[in-house]
Amino acid sequence: MRIGVLTGGGDCPGLNAAIRAIAYRAWMRGDEVYGFREGWAGLLGEGNGHLLSEDEIGGILHLGGTILGSSRTNPARDEDEMRQVEENLRRREIEALVTIGGDDTLSVSAKLSERGFAVVGVPKTIDNDVPHTDYCIGFDSAVAIVGEALDRLHTTAEAHRRIMVVEVMGRDAGWLATTGGIGGGADLIIIPEEPISIEKVIEHVQHRMRARSFSIVVVAEGAIVEGLASSAVATEVDQFGHPRLSTRGIGTRLAEELEQRTHVEARVTVLGHVQRGGSPSMFDRVLATRMGAAAVDQVHSGKTGVMMAAQGLDIVPVPFADVLGHNRTVDRRFFRLVRQFVLAGERDGTAK
Ligand code: F6P
Repeated sequence: MRIGVLTGGGDCPGLNAAIRAIAYRAWMRGDEVYGFREGWAGLLGEGNGHLLSEDEIGGILHLGGTILGSSRTNPARDEDEMRQVEENLRRREIEALVTIGGDDTLSVSAKLSERGFAVVGVPKTIDNDVPHTDYCIGFDSAVAIVGEALDRLHTTAEAHRRIMVVEVMGRDAGWLATTGGIGGGADLIIIPEEPISIEKVIEHVQHRMRARSFSIVVVAEGAIVEGLASSAVATEVDQFGHPRLSTRGIGTRLAEELEQRTHVEARVTVLGHVQRGGSPSMFDRVLATRMGAAAVDQVHSGKTGVMMAAQGLDIVPVPFADVLGHNRTVDRRFFRLVRQFVLAGERDGTAK
């Protein structure tokens, strides 16, 4: 077979590990692998891609980014562009396509599959918000970056007796904030799934400051803090209609308000794209390797129109229809854990 591969949407660590696994499993089966450049953009116009060679796949396992490049191009907005996609696949004699992406890339994959083309998806996003999979490629690496940042911020916060507000990515899901915050010992974690009033935030931070004299607050870029004046509304949207949430400046606004109302110096760290850069964690390398290889096997099974999902110890196919249309938000059991440890830290001052 000749199998196409692309990486779409925001990049993350582990994409190259997935491309490598797809190529090695495909070559083992006697297939050819055609890499399209910059996501769906590589299937528009004349198309942009090439047959992958062993030379370019060797040595990429540990590299961040993606050797194929990525973009937020959405051909599903336009019938003519969907035809260009099909024409490029036909012209290059591609028999099946493996798409590595988040909900946006998977939504275009589903449309292409509905039109009769064989597509298998592989979930990746540091937001970890794709339904039916325990983990998406890139999430674990991003959590490690949040955790390391919190470790570092603890020492400087303590030295200066400051409030440190740390803004993390994640869009409408608080997985990155919750997991990084629990692992990094944050005092307060504010996520989109659980709006909180500014009064409650202030009360909590003041309480905490009495116990330990400094505080670390993690806030997700999409979080809602009721009563926090003039956190900007993100208006600029991408081709999939997503606003650029970093322009809300919620971390900066929160730090300003906390300083003003608690009279304790506050600083903000916006982790931004640092969370998407660098080498993948061991977990992500292994996850990407398993998912990439499973995707090629799935193509050969003939049962396409699915996304490969990590469920417990298995990698299983889930129909695109079940995955799309809703995001996986933070499980309520995590909220309980967050509350328990935050309160324990307040009570006896053991939270770092
Ligand atoms: O979906 C991944 C993500 O990093 C989000 O957490 C964030 O809101 C968005 O992408 C940023 O996108 P861009 O790199 O296009 O600014």
